[in-house]
Amino acid sequence: MLRGKSVIVLVAILTSLLVLGSIAYLYNKNRVIQQARPNLPALTEEDIDPQIWANHYPRHYDSYREAVEGPVVRTKYGGNDPYSKLEKKPELRILYEGFGFAEEYNQNRGHPYAVQDIDFINPARKGAGAVCYYCKSADVPHLLEKYGKEYFQKSFDELRAEINHAITCSDCHDPATNALRITRPALRDALARMDINVDNASRQEMRTLVCAQCHVEYYFTRGEKIVTFPWGDRLEDMKPEQVYEYFQSGPYEGNPFVDWVHPRSETPMLKAQHPDYEFFVNSTHHAAGVACADCHMPYIRQGNVKITSHNWQSPLRTISESCQVCHRHSEEYLRDRVLHIQDNNYNLLKIAAQRNVEVIEEIELTLGTPGADQALLAEAQDLHRQSQWMWDWMSSETSMGFHNPAEGLNYIGKSIDLAHQAIAKARKARGGQ
Ligand code: HEC
Ligand code: HEC
Ligand code: HEC
Ligand code: HEC
Repeated sequence: MLRGKSVIVLVAILTSLLVLGSIAYLYNKNRVIQQARPNLPALTEEDIDPQIWANHYPRHYDSYREAVEGPVVRTKYGGNDPYSKLEKKPELRILYEGFGFAEEYNQNRGHPYAVQDIDFINPARKGAGAVCYYCKSADVPHLLEKYGKEYFQKSFDELRAEINHAITCSDCHDPATNALRITRPALRDALARMDINVDNASRQEMRTLVCAQCHVEYYFTRGEKIVTFPWGDRLEDMKPEQVYEYFQSGPYEGNPFVDWVHPRSETPMLKAQHPDYEFFVNSTHHAAGVACADCHMPYIRQGNVKITSHNWQSPLRTISESCQVCHRHSEEYLRDRVLHIQDNNYNLLKIAAQRNVEVIEEIELTLGTPGADQALLAEAQDLHRQSQWMWDWMSSETSMGFHNPAEGLNYIGKSIDLAHQAIAKARKARGGQ
């Protein structure tokens, strides 16, 4: 009897162990790998090479490398085929005339290419110097420590030998804890000016802020050439109108910031970089708490585990993982909605570009007209600076309007209105209507 009972107890214990074991196994199998491997030497600040991180996180490394090893795919307005935007949109050559972007301007591609892509850049675009590496290489935080403010004065070629890696793990992760972190002081400083301490950001906020280190509007201060984000005192001050004001006020009061002078209209121009974060702020998705990583770094299956994708790419290639976690619509429906938004944005943007080309032609004519009213001419140039800035903001953000559809059309509409005003002033300065 007793023996029989022990057998039952033993079987019961073994069964529960088996069940618990299976649960633990399944849990581990589907669990996102969070921990570095304890049997390997711990990662340190010296480990910039992603291949060292690969020993700890092989699946994440493989996902990161897909941008290089995976296919080249062009979506209607995005994708990772680095075609020439100047060939697709010849009006860009006129609008950017006299500036490096009129010589070479290619569609972007994956993070591992960032350094390689500026190695072969047209020399016309190397003028700014080493500051360009700021958002291209994980070596930069170390070089900033080593050189301090001197970093920003160095030339492109002077620093090349010290740039070994493109955008990699340590740009966003603390090597000791793997927590997300901010490595670019420009973001830290810009948020501090708004009384936002980035160290208190929530995990969901960090899933956007790590991207805001680079996917933003920035400029190099006069003289010191320090990479700075031209944001005001509040998060709402990130619209193109407020950023425009930034370049007219403070140290630039009475002596506005100028990126280049357009050779045909002689207008002192501003060039927008890639205001992705600014444009996204206050969008429907941002207001709903959705982060960049939700769409661009969805959970994907790698073998038998789920990880956060590290292949940053067009979400149109991953609609089921990127969108359908929140939207119960078919893939076709979601793709159509994106294209509908993008087509509208593209068509209106094209009209704004044409109006701005006309502005340049009209001002050029006025410049060549003896006796033209100089005060009206200056007003026309001032309007040109504004109209092309509003167009450029939307031409340079990378989602073809998707990140914030309503705001996008609003900015393009303003560009068209300002361009009409500039055309009217230039004509009036010649004595026309
Ligand atoms: C709601 C989903 C969503 C969110 C959130 C989102 N994006 Fe996007 N993003 C898209 C879509 C859709 C496109 C358009 C892709 C295309 O045209 O192929 C895009 C395009 C891009 C591109 C250009 C991709 C390419 O193929 O050239 C970049 C860069 C980008 N987003 C960065 C960001 C950053 C940075 C953030 C946060 C500040 C962000 N995105 C937030 C959906 C999103
Ligand atoms: C541009 C920023 C960025 C870079 C570069 C980056 N990561 Fe991540 N990583 C993230 C984000 C965002 C998450 C999601 C974190 C969260 O949700 O808390 C993440 C999550 C992770 C996780 C946690 C597990 C998971 O799947 O969510 C690991 C491990 C990881 N990354 C490893 C790497 C490795 C290895 C590299 C270099 C090959 C790398 N990361 C490069 C932004 C980055
Ligand atoms: C250290 C700077 C840096 C950080 C941080 C960064 N990016 Fe990028 N990103 C770049 C640069 C530079 C490129 C263009 C690379 C090229 O074309 O050579 C790029 C390209 C992209 C692309 C286009 C890829 C394609 O296939 O066309 C996407 C999408 C993208 N980034 C999303 C993100 C998201 C989302 C985050 C945050 C999780 C992020 N990036 C963080 C600098 C950065
Ligand atoms: C984390 C959740 C989440 C993800 C991921 C997400 N969305 Fe959304 N989306 C929302 C919410 C919330 C709204 C607000 C309206 C609502 O409640 O449906 C919204 C609104 C929209 C709208 C209408 C508003 C607008 O901006 O035009 C479109 C279109 C849209 N999403 C497309 C997409 C696409 C395409 C993707 C993938 C690339 C995506 N969403 C990913 C949560 C999400």
